[in-house]
Amino acid sequence: MINFKSIKSICCIGAGYVGGPTMAVIADKCPNIIVHVVDINQERIDSWNNLDLSKLPVFEPGLADVISRVRNKNLFFSTKVAEFISKSELVFISVNTPTKKYGIGAGKASDISSLEECTRQVAKNASGHTIVVEKSTIPVKTAAAVKAILETSQNDNDLNKTFSVLSNPEFLAEGTAIKDLENPDRILIGGDDDDAINLLKDIYLNWVDKNKIITTNLWSSELSKLASNAFLAQRISSINSFSALCEETGANIDELKRAVGSDKRIGEYFLNAGPGFGGSCFQKDILNLTYLSEHFGLPEVAEYWEQVININNWQQYRIYKTVLNKLFGTLSNKKISIFGFAFKADTNDTRESPAIKICKYLLDESASIVIHDPRVNESNIDIDLNEYIKLKYSKWEVSSDYELAAKDSDGIIILTEWDIYKKIDWFKIEGLMRKPAWVFDTRKIIDPYVIKQTSLNFWQIGYGIN
Ligand code: NAD
Ligand code: UGA
Repeated sequence: MINFKSIKSICCIGAGYVGGPTMAVIADKCPNIIVHVVDINQERIDSWNNLDLSKLPVFEPGLADVISRVRNKNLFFSTKVAEFISKSELVFISVNTPTKKYGIGAGKASDISSLEECTRQVAKNASGHTIVVEKSTIPVKTAAAVKAILETSQNDNDLNKTFSVLSNPEFLAEGTAIKDLENPDRILIGGDDDDAINLLKDIYLNWVDKNKIITTNLWSSELSKLASNAFLAQRISSINSFSALCEETGANIDELKRAVGSDKRIGEYFLNAGPGFGGSCFQKDILNLTYLSEHFGLPEVAEYWEQVININNWQQYRIYKTVLNKLFGTLSNKKISIFGFAFKADTNDTRESPAIKICKYLLDESASIVIHDPRVNESNIDIDLNEYIKLKYSKWEVSSDYELAAKDSDGIIILTEWDIYKKIDWFKIEGLMRKPAWVFDTRKIIDPYVIKQTSLNFWQIGYGIN
């Protein structure tokens, strides 16, 4: 039974893109709560503890300021998972839940083995009553497994060891994480234990308006997270399908976006055409949704959502084909400059970035590519493009200067909407490239008027050749 009136100590398992920033904001907004973020990855924890705030493992605007206010005051990072589980009244589980790579459901289902492992750790090490909160995005019904594992430990000697299980999915987007956490559209808490729900709610009430806190049953909360990501991703595939139609017909993608988005029922946000969605979650969560739909005997639902992914893959393929066509059907002995490798601006994250697939297509076509990104480390790109590609082709490299990357290049592809690319001096770039030279703007961040004053050929998503 719960025998405390408020939460004074929190442990978050998983010091990643969600666990780190989310706990930093909780610590900042709740000075009376001690927050321990724990992880099995020593290197990651060391980076969170680095005195040089530019070396934090996650780049997010505003994050370093929050960390500097609370780290080692009421926010601590460590690898002592068991110890801080046992010292906490509430444990968030915020570990990764990637697409399963093996066995039944491989390529679709979410791999919740890390979450299960953490639940077993909580079952073993908790003391007294512990509120266990699913922060990770997981398949609907996961809380049933979490409860089943926790219940096994209640037969242990410690009769006071009891648990409540809540679902509290995270809706932050990378690049705007601090803003999203400080001013969320909503906080969702699912559960069947009102006391536990209220204790978690009280934490958020320190800075979130009560009308923004939605409470539901466990399954609605778990499924709403998947549904939210599916709806968001669906908008991107929808607008991207229209980007192709605009390019063919002369309809203007920006005028279309304005006309469609002005309908309040549709809304103006999340209607930017681009190289397809990347990031660690949209694809994973929709694949998981299709797997679950099949599992629950709903193949039509699975097929419906699969199409969102198909359009996304096609968008990346058609960008590659466009580059190939414009460069006379061959990329052999040609240099292509990639401007931006992160899956969106203002993050150093490259997981499922459209750049990965597009670069692989280009390498398969025998192009030499030079990649520039203001925040992504070469070691990340190395992992994303796989060692074998480097060995097989030895034809990609990273440049820390986009002008050097553009030198003698036949084509520049803008894949991430970083601000610095919006300020490029195209007259200077024109002098550096091999002619005839092309610029492919897949993010629609270049003013066509400016580039038309140069000799550069220009293709833009949703417009084609301007
Ligand atoms: P991440 O990979 O950045 O971080 C996960 C961390 O968990 C890693 O540091 C890993 O070492 C740690 N971990 C794994 N197993 C562990 C264990 N047994 N014990 C201790 N630590 C362990 O992942 P993330 O991007 O923070 O995502 C976490 C979850 O949040 C996922 O389910 C994801 O779908 C969801 N989510 C992510 C975002 C986002 O923008 N990245 C937004 C909302 C929700
Ligand atoms: C997304 C959701 O926006 C978050 O609410 C959710 O919490 C998170 O997934 C998650 O569960 O992980 P994130 O992937 O970090 O957040 O970033 P988004 O801003 O959603 O962008 C995702 C991808 O879609 C990016 O590649 C972005 O460039 C692309 N995108 C986004 C577009 O192509 N067009 C748009 O209009 C918006």
